[in-house]
Amino acid sequence: MSRRGVLVAGGAGYIGSHTTVELIEAGYEVIVVDNFSNSDASSLEGVAKITGVKPIFVEADCCDKEAMRKVFEEYDFDSVIHFAAFKAVGESVAEPLKYYRNNLLSFVNILELMVEYGRHNVVFSSSATVYGDADVLPVTELTPRKPATSPYGNTKQMSEDILRDMTTATETLNGIALRYFNPIGAHPSAQIGELPRGVPNNLVPYITQTAAGIRECLSIFGGDYPTPDGSCLRDYIDVVDLAKAHVVAINRMVEGRSKSRYEVFNIGTGSPVSVFELVRGFEQANNLKLNYKVAARRAGDVTAVWADTTLANEELGWRAERELCDTLRSAWEWEKNVRRIK
Ligand code: UFG
Repeated sequence: MSRRGVLVAGGAGYIGSHTTVELIEAGYEVIVVDNFSNSDASSLEGVAKITGVKPIFVEADCCDKEAMRKVFEEYDFDSVIHFAAFKAVGESVAEPLKYYRNNLLSFVNILELMVEYGRHNVVFSSSATVYGDADVLPVTELTPRKPATSPYGNTKQMSEDILRDMTTATETLNGIALRYFNPIGAHPSAQIGELPRGVPNNLVPYITQTAAGIRECLSIFGGDYPTPDGSCLRDYIDVVDLAKAHVVAINRMVEGRSKSRYEVFNIGTGSPVSVFELVRGFEQANNLKLNYKVAARRAGDVTAVWADTTLANEELGWRAERELCDTLRSAWEWEKNVRRIK
């Protein structure tokens, strides 16, 4: 089995496309599977422009086991990265079964096929959401997970548990769960980036669409939190830095350096940033003024969460490198490129 082959499920999406670029640049051969449910083929064209390599692409839904079986039959890869999941917290509350079916079934299918076809290494896209409203900050990987506050969060916790149980049961399987904090920004080439459908749920796409004139005004959800400036604190991680964390996770497993068959790493910067600071940072980085107002708190938001990244720093040899202002500049360059703004 080729140790250089990586199946990237959800590779046309926001984090998946950035990771595909980093894998190709690290010398891996990437097979992208995506059903374009929240992405389109333009991201793969962007990958090709950046790297000069067109990744192998199969249009398939990871919930379709027979379609996935064909991918396992046809292509030579020893590692899988599983990005193919729904991620809108509010939608998951309204339509829980959509989330349980898609996010869990896709992962179960992939794991079953990995065992059946003797593939060894898997990275799972987990989230800081598994910590819930943590009692002690920053959170370490040993911080107890709180009960999830949304079906989306539940699928992340359950998928982590499925991976842990499967690596326990299967001597040939290694797994790493990466707990992402708040991924933002775009590739410095502005060829790939985040492209949410409809009204953005997340802060940075809402900011860039407001700057582009697509949204009238950004609402800052809550100015009365018990934080220094009253807005929520998050750990905003650059998407290229995040993508690189996947490469080192794959390297670790391929080279047999894992300390145990199931490992978990926080992937963040380790620094809390408030919503006001982020908005000001965006204005300064891009030399523009943003139309915003303070609005009511959003249901389900935690006051603060940020990562202790010691484990990823020491074990993976990974740390966030890009400065926040560069990340915020890249987000705006990407939005301008997509909207054809000069
Ligand atoms: N925010 C605003 N206005 C907006 C959008 C967001 O003020 O229009 C604020 C939120 O209240 C929050 C911060 O910006 O304080 C970040 O919000 P995001 O929606 O960008 O990100 P979240 O921290 O809510 O969500 C992220 C991931 C989820 C994950 C969650 C929990 O996107 O996948 O963290 O850890 F579930």
